Amino acid sequence: MSDRTFIRYFSYMIGTMVVLAVVVFVIAQVVAGKGTNAAAVAKMKKMNNTAIAERMKPVGRLLVRATKSTMNSIIPTANAGGEHGAHGKSTYDSACGACHNAGLAGAPKTGDKAAWKARIAQGNEVLYGHAIKGYTGKKGFMPPKGGNTSLSDGVVKAAVDYMVKNSK
Ligand code: HEC
Repeated sequence: MSDRTFIRYFSYMIGTMVVLAVVVFVIAQVVAGKGTNAAAVAKMKKMNNTAIAERMKPVGRLLVRATKSTMNSIIPTANAGGEHGAHGKSTYDSACGACHNAGLAGAPKTGDKAAWKARIAQGNEVLYGHAIKGYTGKKGFMPPKGGNTSLSDGVVKAAVDYMVKNSK
């Protein structure tokens, strides 16, 4: 093949490649959609944190309804308002008052200073232990946690604190 023919074919080839490049570029623009990208970016820029969090949040969410016993396990010691928490009265009312309000089954009445004097003298740790683990004394049987074993140790201690405070 002569040099001239070679140069002619070579020019055709270059020309074809240039045309091809332009076609590919145009197709790429159409497929990738320059406009769509810009719109998506604009949309993302407009999204605030709440919207982003909304998009990123997990598909499922577990809802746990708080019952008294789940609250007790969520707040194991509830150290607000006093050594063992402000839950003393509410725990006492719901789990201990049945026996200790009226002195049922030999239970020392809350507020009965004479009945509590010797008990309080044992010290808080002994009282906590008896309230949490249960206790059989001369008067009768104190069931563990007043029979409500779903109570945390912390709230039972708070109830003991409440009883002691009101029986001195
Ligand atoms: C079913 C009745 C009953 C319930 C409910 C009950 N108690 Fe008692 N508790 C007793 C009896 C009876 C005694 C006395 C036992 C004895 O000394 O013979 C007692 C004694 C105690 C004492 C004194 C222990 C000692 O060493 O002298 C504490 C403290 C106490 N209870 C805390 C609690 C707390 C806190 C609750 C609630 C979480 C509770 N009790 C619920 C019956 C009950």
